[in-house]
Amino acid sequence: MRIAMIGTGYVGLVSGACFADFGHQVTCVDKDESKIAALHRGEIPIFEPGLDALVATNVKAKRLDFTTDLKQPVADADAVFIAVGTPSRRGDGHADLTYVYAAAREIAASLTGFTVVVTKSTVPVGTGDEVERIIRETNPAADVVVASNPEFLREGAAIRDFKWPDRIVVGTDDERGRKVLGDIYRPLSLNQAPVMYTARRTAELIKYAANAFLATKITFINEVADLAEKVGADVQEVARGIGLDNRIGSKFLHAGPGFGGSCFPKDTRALIKIAQDYDTQLRIVESVLAVNDNRKRAMARKVAHAVGGNLRGKTVAVLGLTFKPETDDMREAPSIPLVTGLLDMGAKVRAHDPVGIEQAKKELPEIAYYDDPYDCATGADAIVLVTEWVQYRAMDLDRLKQVMASPVVVDLRNVYRPEEMAAHGFVYESVGRPS
Ligand code: UGA
Repeated sequence: MRIAMIGTGYVGLVSGACFADFGHQVTCVDKDESKIAALHRGEIPIFEPGLDALVATNVKAKRLDFTTDLKQPVADADAVFIAVGTPSRRGDGHADLTYVYAAAREIAASLTGFTVVVTKSTVPVGTGDEVERIIRETNPAADVVVASNPEFLREGAAIRDFKWPDRIVVGTDDERGRKVLGDIYRPLSLNQAPVMYTARRTAELIKYAANAFLATKITFINEVADLAEKVGADVQEVARGIGLDNRIGSKFLHAGPGFGGSCFPKDTRALIKIAQDYDTQLRIVESVLAVNDNRKRAMARKVAHAVGGNLRGKTVAVLGLTFKPETDDMREAPSIPLVTGLLDMGAKVRAHDPVGIEQAKKELPEIAYYDDPYDCATGADAIVLVTEWVQYRAMDLDRLKQVMASPVVVDLRNVYRPEEMAAHGFVYESVGRPS
């Protein structure tokens, strides 16, 4: 199969490289010349474990190429995937579809022969209808099917999620469209990933409903964590105790500082807007968003509480800044409202992150950054662990205690064991566990 992938962000680049790895002929297209030039030099514009090697292998095998001009790749393609950004629109929280519609218009002009145009970006219900309308208006002679094929990969585990998905959702009622997408994903049937064929609008809603449900699960356990702290229970055991029930499932029940990232906050906001457009209210999702925003802000107060109530003049060392480990992505990271809150309360803040410092500096320019976590902790009145990078799990606790001015650790990811921290003489607070 010949594939044109429009957009070389997370979804576009990972999907393009993985499709090429399946044996398809893939051209990734992006308007950003510097990005394409970098990709030609073998430089990957995002941090994603394994992606550089996957891209290099497939470029070398001549199955993967990059260009700024979509004309030829679209003309040659059996399927054109639209994987451009759909950020939150400034002001109202709707998904901004400018890039999707611009891509549709450009694609339309270059289509030749039968082509399936597939939206892979997360797009509101009904976007496929509009993409189809634009294409038919721009090029009435085009032999085209517009399908939805949402992507469920996670940053940091993107390649694994793409190659071993729980399911593949193909949204089109058209048999020719289903056949082309079925052929593209055939290599995954070896991994026994079920392909679910459905209508286009249903596929579009599946994506939002999945993300909103996962965000709800996280927010639910975060609220249970607050209660567990009050009643003297352990939220991790509660999560395990409920998660062993297959109807509930054990994943995404890890309590923490609130969800961040480029997807859950944006997609829950957009879903609420979609519902409003159709005179429907998704009250649970609305609450999830509000509770999560409050929670992120409340984390600074938790730190203040741990140091005895007053942060003025205190030095706080933040370990981990990215919204989760194995990424340099700072979008909507819980560390941002946390650090802002700490500064507002008069604390001096310093931070360490294994890969996120460059991105973090753009969001939080006013704090001090360290390349080594022990240097960061030296002289600190408290440490706050915000992102559960694996290297923090293996920290030398005696050394850490020695370098700190006072041994207070606020662990927002429950990385350490309370008994262990107590044994090392730390004042230790975590999330939803007796301290
Ligand atoms: C999420 C979904 O998990 C993917 O399935 C989806 O494809 C993607 O959004 C998307 O729409 O593109 P991602 O945002 O990369 O993926 O990261 P997650 O691993 O889902 O984490 C999101 C946030 O939730 C992080 O801040 C993480 O720390 C938090 N989280 C996750 C928890 O606090 N507790 C958990 O149990 C799980």
